[in-house]
Amino acid sequence: MNILLTGGTGYIGSHTAVALGQSGHEVTLLDNLSNSDTAVIDRIAQIIGKRPSFVHGDVRDTALVRELIKVHSIDAVVHFAGLKAVGESVAHPVDYYANNVQGTVSLLQAMQAESVKSLIFSSSATVYGVPQYLPYDEDHPTRAINPYGRTKLHVEEILHDVAQSDASWRVACLRYFNPVGAHESGLIGESPRGIPNNLMPFIAQVAIGMRSELQVFGDDYPTPDGTGVRDYIHVMDLAEGHVAALDYLNGRPGWSAINLGTGQGYSVLEVMQAFERANGCAIPYAIAPRRSGDLAAYYASAEQAHKLLGWSAKRSLDEMCASTWRYYQTGV
Ligand code: NAD
Ligand code: UFG
Repeated sequence: MNILLTGGTGYIGSHTAVALGQSGHEVTLLDNLSNSDTAVIDRIAQIIGKRPSFVHGDVRDTALVRELIKVHSIDAVVHFAGLKAVGESVAHPVDYYANNVQGTVSLLQAMQAESVKSLIFSSSATVYGVPQYLPYDEDHPTRAINPYGRTKLHVEEILHDVAQSDASWRVACLRYFNPVGAHESGLIGESPRGIPNNLMPFIAQVAIGMRSELQVFGDDYPTPDGTGVRDYIHVMDLAEGHVAALDYLNGRPGWSAINLGTGQGYSVLEVMQAFERANGCAIPYAIAPRRSGDLAAYYASAEQAHKLLGWSAKRSLDEMCASTWRYYQTGV
């Protein structure tokens, strides 16, 4: 199939481009390069032996998206493009609604006009909010607790309305847990601009000497070692989940929400120790106050993904840490 990846040069988009390319799909990447650069395209080409098409542009440019759907005979869209920093979304909610919600509406207008009605949307576990029980399954009530999370929830609801209005739409909202790691080659990975918000890139930057120590945000949570627990998922497992979701959508109209996680939670200290073990290095750390807005613990029920998509995550925490380190050692 011919697949359009909005936000395709970003972290998850680039890994998904590899997984789709290796499964025989033709991929076209659309990105405005607000949080990525074109160097990744050569690297994808190096891995899959074929250069994906790239269009520099904004998903909110409906005319451009219509045109590229026509030119590249697009059959389905995976919609990654968006802003994703929780703290920034609290400070600049209008930018988040404009990019994430308006961007999706514009994409839907283009798809509708060109009669392309298969869509995978990058949602997030953050839509669930404060856990009423764990693991979160897809029936857990949704109540996002910050503007970023609310953009994801609004988009999920918009997509639900669209699928209800016309039985030929096929929509899967994939609720990612915590994607980490890099492609096994070390050629592509996550390189955040500025100080990383997220745990794994921060650990990698301490390991490589860019930062002196990791700050562990809180050691007094009601978790086994007092530090926050999350469901970290290898980005290549996540990427393969999209290939499975595309197969699932083929011929299945309607809307669905599916968790992509491993079902296993790890604490901050466990991740740090796994990184030390996998890569033979020491990570200096200090306990710092809790980070505002953080939840103590959450992890996925991975049953629905297994049942519907026939997919489950395979790679271990050690592989997540080893691939991250390999990517950093390539000098990116
Ligand atoms: P990323 O920032 O690496 O990738 C997003 C890409 O979208 C970037 O390349 C950026 O330049 C591009 N982009 C942003 N706005 C655009 C626009 N208006 N038009 C065209 N391109 C645009 O982020 P990522 O980690 O790859 O995340 C991809 C998606 O997955 C996002 O929607 C994010 O909210 C979602 N998600 C990410 C995580 C995570 O922890 N990484 C967790 C849950 C959900
Ligand atoms: N942490 C630290 N020190 C750091 C960074 C993080 O101790 O320097 C801790 C956090 O307090 C948390 C854990 O590591 O307990 C994971 O934090 P991340 O920032 O890596 O990930 P979050 O779970 O906070 O959030 C991520 C994405 C969100 C997304 C959410 C979805 O950043 O955008 O997963 O599950 F909404």
